[in-house]
Amino acid sequence: MSVVPNQGNGKITVPELLQRKASTAASSENSNPANSKGIVCLTAYDYPTARLLDEAGVDVILVGDSLAMVALGYDSTLPVTLDEMIHHARAVRRGTKHALLVADMPFGSYHTDTAESLRNAVRFVKEASVEAVKVEGGERRLELIARLTEAEIPVMGHIGLTPQSVNALGGYRVQGKTTDGAEQLLRDARAVEAAGAFAIVLEAVPRELAAQITRELRIPTIGIGAGPDCDGQILVVHDMLGLTFDQTPKFARKYANVGEIISSAVRTYCDDVRSGNFPSDRESYHSGSSAKTDKSDPVRISIC
Ligand code: KIV
Repeated sequence: MSVVPNQGNGKITVPELLQRKASTAASSENSNPANSKGIVCLTAYDYPTARLLDEAGVDVILVGDSLAMVALGYDSTLPVTLDEMIHHARAVRRGTKHALLVADMPFGSYHTDTAESLRNAVRFVKEASVEAVKVEGGERRLELIARLTEAEIPVMGHIGLTPQSVNALGGYRVQGKTTDGAEQLLRDARAVEAAGAFAIVLEAVPRELAAQITRELRIPTIGIGAGPDCDGQILVVHDMLGLTFDQTPKFARKYANVGEIISSAVRTYCDDVRSGNFPSDRESYHSGSSAKTDKSDPVRISIC
């Protein structure tokens, strides 16, 4: 059976992503890899980025808590609050029509009791209209994932390098390299699926282990630093656009150097203002006969 990613109105849904994995599994059993279609995911934190990603055909947009580091300037993901995440998710929602919109539950928003975690997840759905939430952690999130799923909130799991555990892990390191570590990650992946998650992010795990997990699970795996055999891939959008200041991990392929483009444009603007080259007469309004009413000189064209 061939895969039709954009059925109907082109809106990507949770059932459709599950169906895509099922179709891929069926087609690889029929040894027809041409039918497989990788799930394309990227992060976004604001309206214009969301719109550009959505219009370019990204399947899943994640309002990641990487927001804390790449957009808010913190040195870990831990400080970002639920209110800040919801604020950004609302902006991303306004720019997202077709992609599935997922929001990261930030550190502290699902670590106390299940009832409070559920209330926090419900806030994302009610206040930002997200279609799913992501939580970090494997076996120990079993009960939480089951509770959210039972409340009709689709959950994306996240195992391997889970940045919210940076203090417990002692740094940002590849996970699952030892036999024990690999076995734990397999147990984590099975638990996340059994609890009802519709997809799972595998971050910074050996390619071979990610491939094994991908073969075993019925739900799609989304890799970041987990090799090419996952069902989909995700990158932090600032990393892939060259908008970060620190060294990026080796898996973060840079597709553009937008940082350099911005720097160069801003340097030119500085020069133009200082030399009197900006604004020109054409970029100025004029009083007098041609201006019959204020309406004939619109200041801003509607963005809709
Ligand atoms: O916060 C984030 O951006 C993430 C992705 C890297 C998976 O969790």
